[in-house]
Amino acid sequence: MKIVTVVGARPQFIKAAAGSRQLRKEHKEILVHTGQHFDDNMSAVFFREMGIPEPDYNLGVSGGTHGQMTAKMLTGIEEIIQKEQPDAMLVYGDTNSTLAAGLAAVKLRIPVIHVEAGNRLGTLDSPEEVNRITTDHIATLDFCATEDALLKLQREGLGDRSYCVGNIMYDSFLHFADLPWGKADIVDFDGNPIIVPDNYYYMTCHRQENTYSDEPLTEILFAMNSLDSPTIYAVHPRNHDRAKRICEKNGFRNIILTQPVGYLDSVHLTKNAKKIVTDSGGLQCEAFYAGVQCVFVLDYAVWPETMVNNRNQLAKADHIDILEKLGKQQTIDPEYQPFGDGHAAVKICEIIGKWEGNKL
Ligand code: UD1
Ligand code: UDP
Repeated sequence: MKIVTVVGARPQFIKAAAGSRQLRKEHKEILVHTGQHFDDNMSAVFFREMGIPEPDYNLGVSGGTHGQMTAKMLTGIEEIIQKEQPDAMLVYGDTNSTLAAGLAAVKLRIPVIHVEAGNRLGTLDSPEEVNRITTDHIATLDFCATEDALLKLQREGLGDRSYCVGNIMYDSFLHFADLPWGKADIVDFDGNPIIVPDNYYYMTCHRQENTYSDEPLTEILFAMNSLDSPTIYAVHPRNHDRAKRICEKNGFRNIILTQPVGYLDSVHLTKNAKKIVTDSGGLQCEAFYAGVQCVFVLDYAVWPETMVNNRNQLAKADHIDILEKLGKQQTIDPEYQPFGDGHAAVKICEIIGKWEGNKL
């Protein structure tokens, strides 16, 4: 088959690293980068480090309102579909790039394959929720990371097209977590290398809900600043100025602000951290795989299967709540593996192979 895959944001590159490697063993893949993430440390570093093939197209679309961004991507992807005439469109996750690609394909009657389908927060206040619900419903094949996500799609009447294959992020994690971690390539906002302390907490925080104003991020950083070891906060570019200003204004000296880090550094920072505080969907799962306790700062659980035995706890953007959750101890049941066996990409390709003749 000829399959067009569309990626655009950091977590999609990480999924495509596992997906493209497997897909290209049996199919012809055309890789499209929408341009949604574009800084070297948000995009190119993943292609270099993770061996992701060079994109065949880069649309260079980023920024603007969600509507503007999605519309520009949709127009560009439509042109590529018309030119390439693929048999299917493959998309990952829940970003604006996912939605734009799904819509462009379904309007041209090209079957959509959605990887990481079925997750639900239960509120359309989250832009990602809109993207994932729409994409799940316009897809011909939905691949879920967990049984819980599959159940949700069955309840929405999508059971006949949905499969639980495990989390493709776990494929990438297992592949890269075992590689040696040489000298970390982590720099501060001025580009100076930082030394990773022996003991530290690892934090990321970028969601609209936590960064639309100073207040929630100040609460989170206040909590981290009062811990017994420093926090390494790898800052998404959208929060660069706000994070710097809050730390300077409040004298938060126990926080090390860094530019976004590459995947190898992120995985190893995760494995070696005391605990993790994040609002990232992907990072909370990686904390779970690594057995490192996590506090997830959001009002809704993205991955409810991680929320067992204090392994991952929801906290409000409130320093008292965050510190209370960080003070709890986790217990780990090694038999409990809700994300599959790390071979999601193989299973996805097997199912795509069987479905090949069955076009829309
Ligand atoms: C997007 C996804 C979110 C995901 C996150 C991963 C949507 C709706 N959301 O959010 O699910 O968790 O990616 O990181 O698609 N920017 C840069 N350089 C970059 C990338 C972004 O400066 O390389 C700045 C731009 O000013 C941009 C802003 O960050 O306007 C926000 O980026 P955007 O892609 O719109 O949303 P994310 O917050 O990254
Ligand atoms: N990540 C990274 N560098 C960073 C921060 C995160 O490589 O500076 C990785 C992290 O390990 C995880 C993924 O990015 O694999 C999560 O992506 P992100 O938080 O951007 O999006 P989300 O998962 O919330 O959609």
